[in-house]
Parts: sequence; structure tokens; C-alpha cells
Amino acid sequence: MAQKSILVADADASIRSLLKQLLQEEGYAVGEAATGVEVVDKVKENAPDLVIMDVRMPEIDGIEALSRVKAASPRTGVLIMTAFGSSNAAIRAMDLGAFDYVTKPFDLDKISYSVRNVFERQDLAREVGTLRGEISSLVQTERIVGNSPAMQEVYRIIGKVAKSGATVLITGESGTGKELVAESLHYNSGRRAGPLVKASCAALPETLLEAELFGHEKGSFTGALAQRRGRFESADKGTIFLDEIAEMSLQTQTKLLRVLQDHEIERVGSSIPIKVDIRIVCATNKELQKMVEQSRFRDDLLYRLNVIHIKMPALRERKEDIPALVEHFLAKHRYSATAQPAAISEEALRRLMEYDWPGNVRELENAVERAVTLARGEVITSRELPFGDHEDGHEDGEGDDMPAARSLFKKSVAQFEKDLIMKALRDAAGNRSKAAEMLGIYRRLLYAKIREYGLEGYPPKAQAVR
Ligand SMILES: Nc1ncnc2c1ncn2[C@@H]1O[C@H](COP(=O)(O)OP(=O)(O)O)[C@@H](O)[C@H]1O
Ligand SMILES: [Mg+2]
Repeated sequence: MAQKSILVADADASIRSLLKQLLQEEGYAVGEAATGVEVVDKVKENAPDLVIMDVRMPEIDGIEALSRVKAASPRTGVLIMTAFGSSNAAIRAMDLGAFDYVTKPFDLDKISYSVRNVFERQDLAREVGTLRGEISSLVQTERIVGNSPAMQEVYRIIGKVAKSGATVLITGESGTGKELVAESLHYNSGRRAGPLVKASCAALPETLLEAELFGHEKGSFTGALAQRRGRFESADKGTIFLDEIAEMSLQTQTKLLRVLQDHEIERVGSSIPIKVDIRIVCATNKELQKMVEQSRFRDDLLYRLNVIHIKMPALRERKEDIPALVEHFLAKHRYSATAQPAAISEEALRRLMEYDWPGNVRELENAVERAVTLARGEVITSRELPFGDHEDGHEDGEGDDMPAARSLFKKSVAQFEKDLIMKALRDAAGNRSKAAEMLGIYRRLLYAKIREYGLEGYPPKAQAVR
């Protein structure tokens, strides 16, 4: 079993070194942090298995740090240390997702017992996850990067509402991380052991969407060959993430309202109500209030969805996050599995900071990923940065310093890649997981590429034999 990593956080250096020594002797890899800010930074860097933290920390206190730790790395366990008798803080800590707490002054046996206990529970939760087939989504949960005030506000709200089970509406431009926030809400909630089911309302035509969400009885419409459970039923005891909610038809909106009011659904073609215990998280890049004014969205539904509103800031409004995001994506998209993360020239980073990123973090991630490939494991310079190229049809922005051959190279690589992906999608009959496996890449990467090359509907249904 891999060595477990622990971050010990206390303002007092002597306590840190005491704990460090103890835990190292027990075979753990141990890091230290002296302030709340340092804790959050280190968790973002290394996502340790466990943080042991005093509630009273300089700069930002332990409770605040805890909610940021949870937002940044849902899988990291937290063990809180409190002074004897300060149970209020302990209760709040548990409520925010701490695994356990120990009171100071502590004895070392109690600490090592609690640590083992946390790890046992983590391993158990992971096993249960595997059994449920949920492990892939757990592992795939990405941490949210960015320390700008706007993102800190987002973490604050996540920390506050994740546990509550309240309906959440996430708005913001495309690519700002709405889906990541939805994941974070789920994995920081009491429902984390249950399923997180995602459905995009833009992906399917109206009748199919309704059947997909609510399920259907055999023969309820052409093509409904068998009875089928819908996504709401699959999400029972968990969270359903309804993406692009603005695309939902008025008829389906009415049915969704019913789910919110009565916590029950009816399958298409049936009038038997089925109870569902779900938390609903929605996202949109549209102005729902405007759509209400145009009678394209029900205002009573908006009212119910909008219990908690998280507004994702556009990347251009928080450019100070760009360096950390770039670093994160350089590590995520290594040139090869064993390669070190690529380095980037100052000039290139400056250009990334100057650009306005209409496609937000998604566009930045695509740019970094492509640059890593083009730089072939070498330092990334501004030559590898494809501002405004193929995606929106403009010519390469590099102009002078971009030799024609290189631009040709880029286009050929892209074309080659696109062809490969199309072939895999055809061979897999449209099954993206299978296609990703055939290509030997992560599903997430395949999804990004599918978006990048506009292959969302590929292969056309007639070709895909399911
Ligand atoms: N703050 C962030 N930190 C790390 N990755 C991010 C962040 N925001 C977005 N991403 C990445 O950018 C891509 C788009 O994010 P996503 O949540 O799908 O955006 P949206 O749903 O708002 O369109 C994903 O690959 C996601 O992992
Ligand atoms: Mg999205």
C-alpha cells in the first residue's frame, strides 16, 4: 500500500516537530505548515491524505482553512486539534467535514489512534466507492485551483452550503469551472458516498431528455423498447447535476418543479409516483431572469432552483489566478506519463496573462495542453501558444515569429489527432469510454478533444450501432 501523506499544521514549531517525529516513526510522509494560508497552499500542491490542524491558526483560522481544504481537495481528510473545552469549534469543524478532533493537550497515543482511524475510514469509503462503481468519478474529481478573492468567495460558499443539501444554481460563462464546483458540492456533502449523476439538458432533444431524466415505461414512445430507470432515480441518495438548465423545455421544467416540490417523479408513460431522495445542482451560462421575462423559463422554477446562487467569475476578471492554473495544467498534461511537468518561458506566461480568455479556464487548459505537445517536452515559449487559431476560425495570431512550417506542423498534428479520434469513436460505436480506452487516453482528455474539434455529435446516430 502506498505511503500515506500527512500535513501537520500548528503555529507552534515545537508541536509540529513533536507530531512530525511521531508520525514519521509510524511510517507516514509528513509535511508542516505554520499558518492557515500555508495549509491551503500545501493542500493545493500535494493533496495529502490527511491534514492535522489546530483550529487556531494565524492569518486564516483553522475553520476557514478547513472549508478551503475541503473545496480544494475533497479526498483529503482533516483532523482538528482544539484546546480543551472549546467544543463549539470542534462541532463546527465536524460539521464542515473534519473526520475527527482531538483536544489539547493531547497524548500521543490518542493522536496515532485517531490517525489510523481516519485512514481506515478513508480506505473503507474508497472500497465502498469501488463497489458502487463510483471510484472513477472520485478519482476524476479535480481540485479547484485559484486563490483570487473571487475564487475564495466561491470556496467560502461551497464550504457553507455543501453539507446543507440545499438546491444550488451555478452561473457563469462557459469554461469557468461550474462542473467542478458541482463535483465539489457533492463530494463535500453528506451524500458523497451516494452517486453523482450528471445530465446536460443541451445534449438531447426534448422528448429524449425527458425520458432520460425521468425514465420511461416500455412502449411509451417510439423506440422505448423496454422499461428504463431515469437519471433522477439513478441519483437517489446522491446528487444530480443538471447542466445547461436553460435549454430545458417548458414542459420538462414543469416536471422538474414537481420533483423539487414533492420529491417524486413519474416515468414517461406511467402515473405511478416514485419517491426520490436527491440533491439538485444546476448550471447555466444564460441569464435565467431574462428568459423568465421572455416566458422561456418558469419563474416559480427559477425561484426554487436559486436557493443558493454561486456565480463563477470569468477568468479575465481574476487574471492573478493564471500562473497557478498554468502550473496545474502543466502538471496535469505532462508530455508523457513519466515526464516532469514542462517549464514555460516568462514571455509565454506574460502572453497568457495578457490574453482575455473568452473560453475561460477551459480555453486556457486547451492552450496549455496543446503547447505541451507542441513543445515536445521542452520549455514552452510563445511560439507554442495558439491564440485565436482554429477554434474560432481566425488565423494564427503569432504572425512574424511563427515560421510557416511550424504552423503547418501544428495544423497537421491537429488534423491527424482529429482523424484518430473520429476513427476511435466510429470503432467504439460512439461509446466515449471505450474510445478513450482504445486511444489510451483519459476520458476527460477525450471529452476535451471532442469539444475542441466540435465532435460532440460524432458519429451521427445512424452510424453508431448501439
Ligand atoms: N478553477 C479551476 N481549477 C482547475 N481546473 C479548472 C478550473 N476551472 C475550470 N477548470 C477546468 O476547465 C475545464 C472546464 O471546466 P468546467 O467545470 O467544465 O466548466 P463549465 O462547466 O463552467 O463550462 C475542465 O477541464 C476543468 O477541469
Ligand atoms: Mg460545463
